[in-house]
Amino acid sequence: MSVSCPYHAWTYDLSGALRVVPNAEAFPTLDKATRGLRRLPATVRHGLIWAILDPKASVIDVAGFLGGIDDDLAALDLGLQCVFRQHARKRATNWKLMMDAFQEVYHIKKLHAKTIAPYFLDMKAAGEGVGPHTRILVGRDRLAEAKKLAPQYWDPRRHATLTHAIFPNSLLIYHPDSTSHMAMFPTTPDEILFVHTLLIPHDPRDDKEQAHWERNFAMIDEGVFGAEDLFISEQIQIGVKSGANESLVLGRFEQHLRRFHAHIQLMLRNEE
Ligand SMILES: [Fe+2]
Repeated sequence: MSVSCPYHAWTYDLSGALRVVPNAEAFPTLDKATRGLRRLPATVRHGLIWAILDPKASVIDVAGFLGGIDDDLAALDLGLQCVFRQHARKRATNWKLMMDAFQEVYHIKKLHAKTIAPYFLDMKAAGEGVGPHTRILVGRDRLAEAKKLAPQYWDPRRHATLTHAIFPNSLLIYHPDSTSHMAMFPTTPDEILFVHTLLIPHDPRDDKEQAHWERNFAMIDEGVFGAEDLFISEQIQIGVKSGANESLVLGRFEQHLRRFHAHIQLMLRNEE
């Protein structure tokens, strides 16, 4: 396996070392050893690659950064999941609007009325801040079943849906038998590269399982995220950009958005 630039096909191995330069006679003094890919602070934890896109940044202490969420990811066996499919697309919204959309449940019954709303109870959610991150548990239609069970049988995938918002731009949503990872990469103030990866507990073992996760992916990726959350975020972005409103109102059910934006302000002040 190698990494090849589509412009002139300079090719690097997976350690980042420059291996192939087509028509190398055009570079008689080139020292390949000094022309490898730029090294960035990066590490792997819970099956995810954690990187800082700044070569001068120090090594990442992911466990320290995640705090209590580190234990959650271990308990959920995130590192054992397999990638079923990934879809990356650019959409015309600010990255923070999409982070906002997954840190409140106020919109589920309205925006998602034709897709996932029937699976959730209205406004039955509990959440808390974990450092700059957020952990939210949203009650599903089967929540009443949990009342009849001892706490050790309460299931965060069956009786509720757990969401982690990992500061600043990642989200994990734990569906009944799969997990969505979303990353918001801002390209401009009003555009993001939205990358959604569906993780499943094991590779599909037959056509039936393949078809099941194909259906899940289509419903979640296009039906819910694409046609609903991304769609509405683009509409909000148009409204915000118009300058029609001097401020926006957040209610009691949107407290995590306040905390999220306060953390961004804090980080920006610390950068100054
Ligand atoms: Fe949503």
